[in-house]
Amino acid sequence: MFQRFRRTRLNKHLRSLVRETTVNVEDFIYPLFIRSGEGIKTEVASMPGVYQMSIDEAIKECETLKSLGLYSIILFGIPDVKDSVGSDAVCEHGIIASSIRAIKEAHPDMFVVTDLCFCEYTDHGHCGIIDEEHETVHNDATLELSGQQALVHAKAGADMIAPSGMMDGIIETLRTALDGAGYENLPIMAYSTKFASGYYGPFRDVAESTPSFGDRASYQMDPANRREAIAESLSDEAQGADILMVKPALAYLDIVREIKDNTHLPMAVYNVSGEYAMLKFAGMNDLIDYERVVMETMVAFKRAGADIIISYHAKEVAKLLQK
Ligand code: PBG
Ligand code: ZN
Repeated sequence: MFQRFRRTRLNKHLRSLVRETTVNVEDFIYPLFIRSGEGIKTEVASMPGVYQMSIDEAIKECETLKSLGLYSIILFGIPDVKDSVGSDAVCEHGIIASSIRAIKEAHPDMFVVTDLCFCEYTDHGHCGIIDEEHETVHNDATLELSGQQALVHAKAGADMIAPSGMMDGIIETLRTALDGAGYENLPIMAYSTKFASGYYGPFRDVAESTPSFGDRASYQMDPANRREAIAESLSDEAQGADILMVKPALAYLDIVREIKDNTHLPMAVYNVSGEYAMLKFAGMNDLIDYERVVMETMVAFKRAGADIIISYHAKEVAKLLQK
């Protein structure tokens, strides 16, 4: 039998016809950090190109995003006052509730996702209520408050909620709370496999959410554990999550692929602050061809199985795709 060992070289046209993975502007969710005030747009030192904004500036930003074809955002709030239970997070006039209302009013066609957690709202910076005796987060007390937070977001008009605190039973709790209040069709994107990662460093500068004591290792995942990482996501699927997520993205593509092969739900990756900063500063120092490496990274996420990419690069990618 004749066997030809040399592969036919494909020309550019044929290469694009047979390309297995593509990146589209529709794949992206862009994070916005919102604080009170007016006319505020402050660049974050550790993340050039990323800003803390007041609501009016965020509304202007949405105009820009739409002109680039980006119609999905995820909101993070920086409240004026932080306290031990994160009161602003469950307040109808809190920073996030106000942002959702204002943004949806100005841009009804924008898909507004909310990050649901307490670390930006508590004075100790942990993702929930503190159990003083054990110096750790009190899982069930946090669940109860999370249910309230979800309803505040839902009433304000959020299109999807994304719980990121890694509390056990969070998806079931939120699903029950939302269904009970008539929000059966509000989807939940679970931060289902979230690792205790050093890559969140710059985010904690923007969100002003560095824990004042201890770390998040008791509720976030050990980067060394693959099987546990899969189990966490499958548990969220069983509890009723609509979309699963792996976070961070780049160092965990094996986990993305394995979860993808074990679920029928759509999958998101969170291309986190530290990943953004690495490329940004390497590019600013002419150490890499920035645009090329950004696109290569996005293709890698899609190839690993991501359907959705949450990324601070979204605007740059949208511009590159337009070229
Ligand atoms: C809040 C939250 C974090 C991120 C998203 N939601 C921070 C954390 O867990 O410390 C990180 C995002 C990023 O680094 O870009 N729980
Ligand atoms: Zn948190």
